[in-house]
Amino acid sequence: MRFFIDTANMAEIREAMEMGILDGVTTNPSLMAKEGIKNVEEHYIAICKAIGSGDVSAEVIATDYAGMIQEGRALAHLHPHITVKVPMIKEGIKAIRTFTEEGIRTNCTLIFSPAQALLAAKAGATYVSPFLGRLDDVGHNGMQLIGSIRQIFNVYGIKTQILAASIRHTLHLIQCAEMGADVATMPFKVIEGLFKHPLTDKGLEQFLADYQKNNSL
Ligand code: E4P
Repeated sequence: MRFFIDTANMAEIREAMEMGILDGVTTNPSLMAKEGIKNVEEHYIAICKAIGSGDVSAEVIATDYAGMIQEGRALAHLHPHITVKVPMIKEGIKAIRTFTEEGIRTNCTLIFSPAQALLAAKAGATYVSPFLGRLDDVGHNGMQLIGSIRQIFNVYGIKTQILAASIRHTLHLIQCAEMGADVATMPFKVIEGLFKHPLTDKGLEQFLADYQKNNSL
């Protein structure tokens, strides 16, 4: 399972990289706005350079076919690591088909149903991004969506990768791994949370105390 970080914050991206477990980055217009990024193209290039290898999702703003194509081509041209992120709308699916034919990698975002995932896969999307946390927020079961997409993709041998998104905590990540999501994208604080267990801290403290005791005699 590959780990992506879901942020536009360079310090978080660098710190996650230094952990040695990062495979890519996802961003969206809200994450860019949170960091106050105005020149998004420059920022995408900086992220691509910082991570060295792995996909970096860059989202189109246009919602019409021609606009998405123009924007997506320009984004893909910025750096070989760029994956063009396209919303799950009719025009978006048409754009994904064109990008696929042009060899441009895509991430179909805002997926909330198995039917939407299947449509994106049929158009040739590299990734589909089901937003499980946002489904949980409105009383639906986000994890069931991951399982259903996995089942459908397995039945037909579909190569589109499931990029589990809107992950809010460690249990989400573990269940996504159990369901067979290919990638999980997480905020920095979720990645940090994966390391933590009170028994690890307690155990290490004891080992170090025993070492000191044994070596100070
Ligand atoms: C993924 O590509 C999205 O940027 C992200 O996971 C959305 O997460 P949120 O629901 O926490 O905003």
